[in-house]
Amino acid sequence: MHLLPSLLLLQALLLALMPGTGYAAEDAAKQAGQVLFRNVCASCHGPEAQGAEPLKVPSIAGAPSWYVLRQLDNFREGRRGTNAAEPQAMIMAAMVKALSPGQLQSVANYLQSLPLVVPTAPKNANLAMGKTLFEERCMECHRYNGSGEMTFGSPPLVGLPDWYLIAQLRKFKTGERGATPADPYGAKMVFSSQFIESEEALCSVVSYIVTLNAPSKPPLLDDLFQAPQSKSAVASPKPGR
Ligand code: HEC
Ligand code: HEC
Repeated sequence: MHLLPSLLLLQALLLALMPGTGYAAEDAAKQAGQVLFRNVCASCHGPEAQGAEPLKVPSIAGAPSWYVLRQLDNFREGRRGTNAAEPQAMIMAAMVKALSPGQLQSVANYLQSLPLVVPTAPKNANLAMGKTLFEERCMECHRYNGSGEMTFGSPPLVGLPDWYLIAQLRKFKTGERGATPADPYGAKMVFSSQFIESEEALCSVVSYIVTLNAPSKPPLLDDLFQAPQSKSAVASPKPGR
């Protein structure tokens, strides 16, 4: 009869005696990432890391930390953000250079913990063409649902808006991104982007990728009948972006 209350008491005592430092250190690191993000990154990437089209800044919410760290390194080492026609990317590269490896790690951990932002689907695209192209040329690395594959180093493509996907694919095609000798991951994309042979193919594959974010409902019905909670239901299963 009295066993249960005394067990509970014992458990409470044990918990009270346990050293809390491990948790405290984890919390402090997470908070440091958040503070850094708010002070240094949010002015461009937005308070929820949702991105901003007018500044050509992508959403980075929910991006896996291994991919974020690689890109931050690319910006630091001059493999990205060197084109004078893209001042925001140049500013970003300059800022990242001032941060320590520990700071970069903590901001990357923070970004990974944020919920994915679902982009809006572009209209009037040739989805059938995009699907075929994706399945033949992209899926082996980025996976059938666009969720990426860490072991290949290929990032998630869900969570990214159409204008950003188009811009990056153009950069890979021209070699503005991914073509320096010290960028083996970029090189895979410089090669793979050559299979996108026309503007129509580019728009259709990107439109298809954006549809991978949401369950296969027509976007129009989604817009009309969306209950507030259904948006987060779409965003929530997040093993990476
Ligand atoms: C001055 C505006 C600006 C600020 C501030 C900024 N960024 Fe960026 N960021 C950009 C732009 C623009 C791009 C897209 C560059 C491109 O198109 O190649 C970008 C791209 C990125 C990417 C690559 C995303 C991908 O999918 O490849 C990461 C990661 C990133 N930023 C992280 C950060 C972090 C972390 C901070 C804060 C330490 C930060 N950014 C601050 C403008 C900014
Ligand atoms: C051989 C493997 C491979 C194939 C095939 C491949 N990719 Fe990639 N992709 C990668 C890797 C690796 C990266 C990361 C490059 C980097 O680190 O800068 C990447 C990056 C990207 C990015 C940049 C994402 C970002 O956040 O900036 C886009 C967009 C992309 N791929 C689209 C595609 C499309 C569309 C196809 C098919 C036409 C494709 N990829 C085929 C491996 C691949």
